[in-house]
Amino acid sequence: MDYKVDIGVFGGSGFYSFLSNVVEIEVDTPYGKPSDKIAIADYAGKKIAFLPRHGKAHQFPPHMIPYRANLYAMKMLGAKKILAPTASGSLKPEIKPGDFVICDQFVDRTTGRKDTFFDGPVTKHISSAHPYCSELRQIAINAGKDLGITTHEKGTVVVIQGPRFSTVAESRWFSKMGWDVINMTQYPEVYLAKELGICYANIALITDYDAGLEGRDDIAPVTEEEVLKVFDENNEKVKKMLFEIIKRIDTDSKNCDCPEFDLKELSLP
Ligand code: ADE
Repeated sequence: MDYKVDIGVFGGSGFYSFLSNVVEIEVDTPYGKPSDKIAIADYAGKKIAFLPRHGKAHQFPPHMIPYRANLYAMKMLGAKKILAPTASGSLKPEIKPGDFVICDQFVDRTTGRKDTFFDGPVTKHISSAHPYCSELRQIAINAGKDLGITTHEKGTVVVIQGPRFSTVAESRWFSKMGWDVINMTQYPEVYLAKELGICYANIALITDYDAGLEGRDDIAPVTEEEVLKVFDENNEKVKKMLFEIIKRIDTDSKNCDCPEFDLKELSLP
C-alpha cells in the first residue's frame, strides 16, 4: 500500500464527503472491497482517510455494509485511530436532536452480521468490556465542550439490525433499560476496530426521538426523511467537531488501554 494515513473517519447517513483536495483510492482487501473509494487528504499536519460507510450513493443499508473490509482497509492504510460520526436516535428526553453523545457502551441487537476477523484457525477472544477508546472519547468530549456544542459525555447505544426502525414497544423497552441512543451501524464496526487494535470513538449526532417519547404525543415516530434533514442541518457542526478533534489528536502518542494488533497475526480467509 503506497498510502500511509494517521486517522480514519467513517461517514454515515447524510455524510458522504469530508475533506477537500483529496486523492481517491480504490482498496481491495481479503474481505472484499470496502463500501467505496477512500478519500485521502491532509488536515492539521495529519493524513486523514475518509470512507462513507454506506457508500457515496448510500448503496449499502446498515445490515449489508462490508464492515470487515472497511476496517481492514483502514488498517492496511495504517490508521491507528478512527472517528465514527453516526446519525442516531435518542431514547431520553434530555438527549435532544442536534446534541452529540460520545458513547461509551453498546448493546448489540443485530443478527447475522460478520462480526469477527477470528474465524479460525487463529482464534482470539478479545474483551469488549470497554469497547471505545478512553483517550479519543475524552478528546471528543473536550472538543465538543470547547466549541460550545451540547455534548453528552457518555451513553449506551443500542444497535438494531435495521433497515426498519423500532416499534413503539421496542423503543420503550430500550429506554426502560436505561439505554441512551439508538443506531444501526455501531455494531460490529466498533468491535472490529478493537480486534484490529485501532482506537475508535463514536460521535453520535442525535437526529430524532426514535419511535417517540412516553407521554409526548407531539413527537411522531422517526422517518428516514427526518434523519437526513436533521443530519443535513447539522452537517457543518459535525465537520467542525471532527476538525477540532483531529487538531487535538497526537498521532505519535497512545494513552489508553486499547490492545495493539499486527495484521500478520491474522489468518486470512
Ligand atoms: N439512526 C438515526 N436515528 C435512528 C433511530 N431512531 N433508530 C435507528 N437508527 C437511527
